[in-house]
Amino acid sequence: MDLERLRLETSAAHNSVEQAIPLMGREFTSKEYISCLRRIQGIVGTWEQVAVNSPIGWVRELVVERQRCHLLDQDLRFFGISEINSERPVLPRMNDEASLLGTMYVMEGSKLGGKLIARHVQNTLELTSGNGTAFFRDHGRQTGLLWKQFCDILRVRVTDPESGQVIESAKEMFRVFGSWVNHSAYAHNSTANLSIENARANI
Ligand code: HEM
Repeated sequence: MDLERLRLETSAAHNSVEQAIPLMGREFTSKEYISCLRRIQGIVGTWEQVAVNSPIGWVRELVVERQRCHLLDQDLRFFGISEINSERPVLPRMNDEASLLGTMYVMEGSKLGGKLIARHVQNTLELTSGNGTAFFRDHGRQTGLLWKQFCDILRVRVTDPESGQVIESAKEMFRVFGSWVNHSAYAHNSTANLSIENARANI
């Protein structure tokens, strides 16, 4: 597969999703950060669950090694939140190799900006290193090396006729990711829940 074509044809989708993550270039509160982590937990958790149950064995093994939803759980626990976000997005179709790899390109690529985001979150919320930002740091794994290995796999395994399908699947995954993270309904719900908790605390 021609990776330059994949990057070029999805770069507008990347820009949109980057804008949808409300964690860069601005100040935010820990409540907003937690809300964002919970949205990400919903989509990363759902994607990993589907991908590790994929009938395509070699991709499944790759996903298992690269899972990181437990890091989101760890960060949320740091902020005192232990329940899992039970809301689930509707993911693109990922029942064949090309569509699965297209979504995986997006999920793997989302790790690349992680270090930048972690640093910004740490400075904004005055956190000590690693606490509450394990997901974005991806446990300090060799993100660059893992990314390069994944790109090599795409280059070798995806045939030219399959490339269009990988690109369409990646664009759809970017779209779902952006609209899910940007969804405002959750913010309302969490505000409502917090209000109920505050009300209970005052009884
Ligand atoms: C504020 C949020 C984000 C920032 C600052 C950011 C930043 C970056 C940067 C700096 C790169 C290039 C890294 C490199 O070449 O070594 C990159 C690549 C990439 N990012 Fe993001 N990103 C963000 C959010 C996301 C999200 C949410 C996704 C997916 C849902 C995503 C998917 C990708 C992909 C697939 C690539 C690889 C592009 C390629 O083929 O070279 N990014 N991002």
